[in-house]
Amino acid sequence: MAEPLKLGLAGIGTVGTGLVQLIAAGGDELTAKTGRPAQIVAYSARQKRKKRSVDVSKMRFVANPVALATDPEIDVFVELIGGEEGPAKEAVEAALRAGKHVVTANKALLAHHGAALAALAEKIGVALNFEGAVAGGIPAVKAMREGLQGNDISRVFGILNGTCNYILTKMEREGRHFADVLQEAQEQGYAEADPAFDVGGFDTAHKLALLTSLAFGTRTRFDAIYVEGIETITLTDIEAATDLGYRIKLLGVALRTDSGIEQRVHPTMVPRDTAIANVDGVSNCVAIDGDFIGDVMLIGPGAGGGPTASAVMSDIIDIARGVVLRPFGIKAKHMKAYKKAAMRTHEGGYYIRLSVYDRTGAFAAIAQRMATQGISLESIVQRRSDSERPGQGRSTRKKGEPQASVVMVTHETTEAAVRKALAAIERDGHVDSKPQMIRIEKL
Ligand code: HSE
Repeated sequence: MAEPLKLGLAGIGTVGTGLVQLIAAGGDELTAKTGRPAQIVAYSARQKRKKRSVDVSKMRFVANPVALATDPEIDVFVELIGGEEGPAKEAVEAALRAGKHVVTANKALLAHHGAALAALAEKIGVALNFEGAVAGGIPAVKAMREGLQGNDISRVFGILNGTCNYILTKMEREGRHFADVLQEAQEQGYAEADPAFDVGGFDTAHKLALLTSLAFGTRTRFDAIYVEGIETITLTDIEAATDLGYRIKLLGVALRTDSGIEQRVHPTMVPRDTAIANVDGVSNCVAIDGDFIGDVMLIGPGAGGGPTASAVMSDIIDIARGVVLRPFGIKAKHMKAYKKAAMRTHEGGYYIRLSVYDRTGAFAAIAQRMATQGISLESIVQRRSDSERPGQGRSTRKKGEPQASVVMVTHETTEAAVRKALAAIERDGHVDSKPQMIRIEKL
């Protein structure tokens, strides 16, 4: 039998555990696919003695992940530590410099340092594979880097965070509050170590940065992404979306425009009858528009140990087969500088919710501010707000002057016009909190 491919595994959390299980279960069938078995010979973890659901007794423990990365016995360093700096970055760089192939699911690391790490991997002539970094089990990286490489891509977008999609789905289906469902997603192992990365939209942005580079051949530029999370979405918004014929999804969108590349992450109202509106629970989807293929959409489990381990294993299998591709599909030195399109050029309809003091003239003043910016309203209605729901968590309503929750839907307009109108409405003092604004996309 051929020599085993020897792996050093850094990090035995949800995904690391899944990988140990997958390799144990795959056995001879995995070997048959590649011609050689894959074997985890050594691992590092924060705690050596932690009780685990998988057997690591036959693997050598190496306390320091950087030492593991350069361990003479290993062929491949599998980085499942996470984090954009610190031990993950040090270990990946050390592994590449030591001539080890690297497989990582670390989207934060690559979103910040992808182009530099790709250049290093290329210089040394080793693989830097990251299928597990984007959309969990969905083979989105392979689809873009290999299956669709004959296409000129004009747009890539999707639901890229399982935790947020799980929360939004449960809020809608079960009428439950945000915090309650977040805890459930954490318990199921979907959320990041710091769930603020999920709900704040940053995890989606990390993944989007990688998809953007794969789609447009540009250097990864996380800091160029406009990011809004789902923390401000209330049951009032979810119910209003349902009544208006939409669902709220946290989308990551990257598209080529005349002024550059637009990258944005924000809650979005999508028509209920579209495929993306029906991607529920922890599922993700990645939609790609290519010139020859047309529109493609991949849907599947976006988080969790099993699906992400499946993606990580596909990268390991490539290495076992001797396949070493350029990390972002093109030579690192050919990756172009990223030219940012102004977010303010985004055009579409908008959902706006205002908590308005119940005063004579307030409505008229708000309508006037919208008209001044040339914004035409499709509808304006008063709704029951979260604070008026019996038994629905803490009240956000101020005591004293009565308020009304007012929901407006605009016709197509520009981001700049909406922002100016809302700033003026806030200045006028008729609202008691920051207006809620959700973009509507027809997709
Ligand atoms: N926390 C991430 C999610 C895990 O919820 O999608 C997968 O990257």
